[in-house]
Amino acid sequence: MAKKKFYVTTPIYYVNDNPHLGSAYTTFIADTLARYHRLKEDDVFFLTGLDENSQKTATAAKTEVREDIQRYADMMAVRWEKTWERFGITFNGFVRTTDPQHITFVKEFIEKVHKKGDIYKGSYEGYYCEGCEAFYKEDDLVEKKCPLHKKEAKWLKEENYFFKLSKYQDKLLKHIEDHPEFILPETRRNEIVNFIKTGLKDISISRPNKTWGIEFPIDESQVVYIWFDALTNYLSAIDREKYWPADVHIVGKDIQRFHCTMWPAMLWSAGYKLPKTVFSHGFITVNGIKMSKSLDNVVKPIELSKTYGTDAIRYYLLKEIPFGSDGDFSKNKLKSAINNELANDLGNLVSRVLAMVERYYQGTVPDGSFDKALLPDVKKIDAHMENIAPDKALESVWEYIRLVNKYVNDMQPWELNKTDQAKLKDVVYSLVESLRFIQILIAPFLPETAEKMKEQLKIESFIWSDIKPGAMKGKKISKGENLFTKIEA
Ligand code: MSP
Repeated sequence: MAKKKFYVTTPIYYVNDNPHLGSAYTTFIADTLARYHRLKEDDVFFLTGLDENSQKTATAAKTEVREDIQRYADMMAVRWEKTWERFGITFNGFVRTTDPQHITFVKEFIEKVHKKGDIYKGSYEGYYCEGCEAFYKEDDLVEKKCPLHKKEAKWLKEENYFFKLSKYQDKLLKHIEDHPEFILPETRRNEIVNFIKTGLKDISISRPNKTWGIEFPIDESQVVYIWFDALTNYLSAIDREKYWPADVHIVGKDIQRFHCTMWPAMLWSAGYKLPKTVFSHGFITVNGIKMSKSLDNVVKPIELSKTYGTDAIRYYLLKEIPFGSDGDFSKNKLKSAINNELANDLGNLVSRVLAMVERYYQGTVPDGSFDKALLPDVKKIDAHMENIAPDKALESVWEYIRLVNKYVNDMQPWELNKTDQAKLKDVVYSLVESLRFIQILIAPFLPETAEKMKEQLKIESFIWSDIKPGAMKGKKISKGENLFTKIEA
């Protein structure tokens, strides 16, 4: 049977920023989905990358020389690559919008849109926020400042090329109505629908600039507007025959509008299908304020991982921040998740059970019979993952871990050791199988921990459908170090 394909993307990050916990969050979600679908044996393509052609890159590079700006982007790109490497991000493609392949694709894409009659020349006058790289209506500004970057928006007056976005308004509303899964979560869908109903305006898709950006194919005195360039990365960097349309674009709520209005219209215009789902998550905040470079409140993931480890950070972000809503980052909550959920619930359970195998059976898993009370509710976890609710899926995994802990406490194997050897065998065997289930269930979320458990349980490779009893009988396990160390207050 042909494999089901699963194509998941993150937004491409502005290369001039340093990775922070907010950008890492989007990437962790996409990585978790990719890992889960690989375990389900789907043909996965996970794309991430960097948005480099923005004016911000040139400004940050502090030079007008194209080669020097590129050198600056190359230097910054390494920071992103190192962060993703540290967190074991399993992307299949890493696109940089200065890649020649991307540039060629963008030009061809614009030619197609032009041929369709959707591009015209006009003049633009209005507000622009360089932080968002977006045009603003006066009503959207707060005291003339961008609501997100809190910086004054610039008044621009330019000759530009325009894309006929307004032409696609009705088609878009109909598509959203017919495909409710196109915009998730539902609250965001309503926001977008209301926004579209206020009237989509044609947008300027080129800017006068000669130093930096992709040359506008119809007029070389202009460069392609950054969003028109950036969004096409989802197509330029993949085997389109095989993977398009995307199954899910994971985006933050600040950029959902681009993905749910401009992007579908662009795709229709150039003759492509639309992605199945655009899922937008909320912001990681610090004392209620969005974490971002411009607000100077960022937490660097690599720094944090030196103290707390990478899996603990993934766990905290994936589980403690309700997916779709904003969530405040707090070190105290991170510590409490490490001490209670990771070290106690999971780490102690693993070391207790493996210690029993060593103590009672000299390290060889006994040949008992499996207690069905310890079967996890995999269907429930699958349903959450299919609905792109990784926080709920992880909560269900933890419900299972708690159930196994309760089983140990209820069965009291240390008492059975004195009174009932036959029962002890069944209990310990069932517990070891449960550890194996847990090892598989946590793998999409906590890859490093899953790897350590794999070594302790002497498992070679595994897939999702291995979550059924039978594999552990007679195995010689090797109890390693504790999976997590508690953090002192
Ligand atoms: N380059 C554009 C995206 C183009 S995609 C075709 C961009 N880049 S960004 O670097 O500013 O943001 C990238 C992603 O990081 C966005 O999804 C954004 O929502 C997310 N985050 C940035 N700060 C964030 C938080 N504090 N919290 C959660 N995610 C946030 O926009």
